[in-house]
Amino acid sequence: MNKNIAIDGPAGSGKSTIAKIIGERLNLMYINTGAMYRAITLKALRENISYTSVDKLEKLIEGTELYFEDDQLFMDGENISQEIILPETSNNVSNYAAVPKVRRMLVKKMQDMAKKFDVIMDGRDIGTVVLKDAEFKFFLSASAEERANRRFNEYKNNGVEVDYNELLEDIKRRDHIDSTRETDPLAKADDAIEIDSTKLTIDEVVEKIMNYVNK
Ligand code: DC
Repeated sequence: MNKNIAIDGPAGSGKSTIAKIIGERLNLMYINTGAMYRAITLKALRENISYTSVDKLEKLIEGTELYFEDDQLFMDGENISQEIILPETSNNVSNYAAVPKVRRMLVKKMQDMAKKFDVIMDGRDIGTVVLKDAEFKFFLSASAEERANRRFNEYKNNGVEVDYNELLEDIKRRDHIDSTRETDPLAKADDAIEIDSTKLTIDEVVEKIMNYVNK
């Protein structure tokens, strides 16, 4: 079996930043599964396909090639890593990610990647569904206010103007959709180690995880 690490947590909990660093340190391929849901959302929005049109979404996913190269996500050969973090995709992705058929198809793609490579994967259901047998599972949490703050700074650093209160509301709304949806909701696996990062720096979280992995 390949060496796999699962990292789950809500939006803005620091999962992707931390998974990327740990991946580099341990030579694991980093797979950002949220980016995969975002990619499908972006393509559906571009093609005017609603999240309620399940048959059309199925065809869309069947006809979509997704792959990671140097932490960048390519969809049908186009690097979409920047576009998928913009508010239009962020505001719609939870609805598309809640569609059971979409999840089944993307989970299969994720599991295929984990069969081929040693991976560190972050998402909402990695420890509970995608990589149930992962050697290490972590669940990152942080207060909604701190997570909105982090997203605000991310946007600011990328030159995108957003309103903090709108971001906070969006985070709370997404938390609600992600953790109450019927299929594979955001949840901590029973055997996952929980780390509250509200008051921790990125380096401190990385060190905590590395300590567990090196034990
Ligand atoms: O981590 P993120 O904010 O980029 O995730 C985008 C959306 O995708 C988020 O609303 C929840 C969903 N998602 C999911 O349902 N399951 C995953 N494994 C990863 C993300």
